[in-house]
Amino acid sequence: MAEPSIPRITIPALRARKTVGPKIVCLTAYDFPTAKILDEAGVDLILVGDSLGMVVLGHANTVPVTMDEMIHHTKAVTRAVRRALVVGDMPYFSFHLGVDETVRNASRFLKEAGAAAVKIEGASKKRLKLVEAMVEAEIPVMGHVGLTPQSIHQLGQFKVKGKEVEEARKIVEDSVNLEKAGAFAVVLESMPLEVAKTVTEAVGIPTIGIGAGPHCDGQVLVFHDLVGYSTGYQPKFVRKYADLSATIGRAVGDYAADVRAGRFPDDSTSYHLKPAATTGAAPRRGPSAAGRTKE
Ligand code: KIV
Repeated sequence: MAEPSIPRITIPALRARKTVGPKIVCLTAYDFPTAKILDEAGVDLILVGDSLGMVVLGHANTVPVTMDEMIHHTKAVTRAVRRALVVGDMPYFSFHLGVDETVRNASRFLKEAGAAAVKIEGASKKRLKLVEAMVEAEIPVMGHVGLTPQSIHQLGQFKVKGKEVEEARKIVEDSVNLEKAGAFAVVLESMPLEVAKTVTEAVGIPTIGIGAGPHCDGQVLVFHDLVGYSTGYQPKFVRKYADLSATIGRAVGDYAADVRAGRFPDDSTSYHLKPAATTGAAPRRGPSAAGRTKE
């Protein structure tokens, strides 16, 4: 029987949420099973973030993440998603060599990986031109201001932005300029809630906050932080809704104890000869669980 079709979240539908609500629920995902769970749980926007580099690939920051890695993981996510809008994150140095290279890289997220949009950090004059060029090429773009993790080597450390008036003004101006350049939404990362509120009121596109307080039009968190499956430093803005690291650790410990004690596998997890198989010949090798073969 064909699966019932679920209406997809589109860019216009997402933009309309700014005025009609409800707030936009966004999370990161980097693989098929996680994306499937998030989509079925009703997450509106799934970001294949370059945080992939830190939470999945074990890098110290997002700088080493490549276009090919982003495409590989975005493909896995879009294979699972039926409803949510999937956004692919432009990794460091995928948009630094000029307009043509940027548009070509951005188009890969749509053409090869099946995403509906891309995200790009920053709002310098040059960056705004890139946003315009991508939008001109029919690629929906989400902006990202405040703390922009790809600038880690210039910043020296990940820290809250916009605590001083000048920096706060710049965040508001950058967001307004991103809207003018054609962005359909903007991520506000690590800033005082007052600044995020001002931006949210100043722009006509949805603001998606992470460490930016409750006044944004939507919220995003890194999935691994939300479920307690991260290994690194946890920023103040994270709320942990589960403790997956502990759950997985316990499951693996129980498995190891069972294997060592001979409790696993047992009769119920082993294959058997057919009752009539009395040939005396060696049984065919049991099919592997990895192959999911039925007995
Ligand atoms: O890479 C990422 O996951 C992000 C979000 C934190 C917004 O950019």
